[in-house]
Amino acid sequence: MSSKLLIIERVVDLKKILADKKNRSVGFVPTMGALHNGHRTLIERARAENDFVVVSIFVNPTQFLEGEDFSKYPRTFEKDHEICRLANVDIIFLPTVNEIYKSDDISVISPIKRGYILEGFSRPNHFNGVLTVVLKLFNIVQPTKAYFGKKDAQQLILINQMVQDLYLNIEIVPIDIVRDRDGVALSSRNVYLSQDDRIIARAIPNSLISASKLIMTGERNIIKIETHIKNELKNLQIEYVSILKRDLTQIDQIEMGNSIILIACKVGGVRLIDNLWI
Ligand code: PAJ
Repeated sequence: MSSKLLIIERVVDLKKILADKKNRSVGFVPTMGALHNGHRTLIERARAENDFVVVSIFVNPTQFLEGEDFSKYPRTFEKDHEICRLANVDIIFLPTVNEIYKSDDISVISPIKRGYILEGFSRPNHFNGVLTVVLKLFNIVQPTKAYFGKKDAQQLILINQMVQDLYLNIEIVPIDIVRDRDGVALSSRNVYLSQDDRIIARAIPNSLISASKLIMTGERNIIKIETHIKNELKNLQIEYVSILKRDLTQIDQIEMGNSIILIACKVGGVRLIDNLWI
């Protein structure tokens, strides 16, 4: 169980503390900070299932493309610290960029198909950055279990694949999407939505509910369901609406228990993603 929350900035210091925890389970929640109830749910699950809990807060530069919001990404350390303290986290790992990246580093390359569709289509190389930092963090923390949200479905799927392909000895625990009262999935980027855009954004979760109702009536045809969703999102700038198998390969018909509907839209310049596992 937790004692006082420690903030550790250096890898050597974290390794020293973790070396004493050899026979205890370590739960790890990697984040980029700006913590909200979605992150809190991951942290609480980690707390419930492990002897020791580490949360990393690191806005990872390599997963942002040029011109993306790396420098503007919300940084709210005091609030994050309070959330971690209240959730009985043991350690916040808060490295600087120079602590994690040297120069001319070795990095992970995401799979050429699965890493370059959906999010990876509009953000090429994004998943190289994600997988690289997650592997580095895994090797630093050496967790028993690591917690990831289904909100970032493609990220979760690729991390699972990395664990398999690189034979990592870590259990990945997927956590359901946490939503606000209006149905919109919690995201650190939601703060950028104006009041009007926030109302428009509700169409995203609503379109997923509407699609699941359609599926419940027996509809299984991917094109028909995708068209139905796109129609519900006609006032938004759609980036993709895609129904795939859970390994991110193509299907013609919904396979119950093995399919996923993925959506990315822009609302007032803010890019939002959401999905439904069916
Ligand atoms: P970040 O966006 O901070 O998210 C950290 C974790 O919280 C991810 O696993 C994400 O899926 C989860 N999460 C975010 N919003 C959620 C919600 N509404 N419901 C459930 N889970 C939610 O994802 C990243 O950081 C980074 O890419 C990272 C993995 C830390 C690598 O840099």
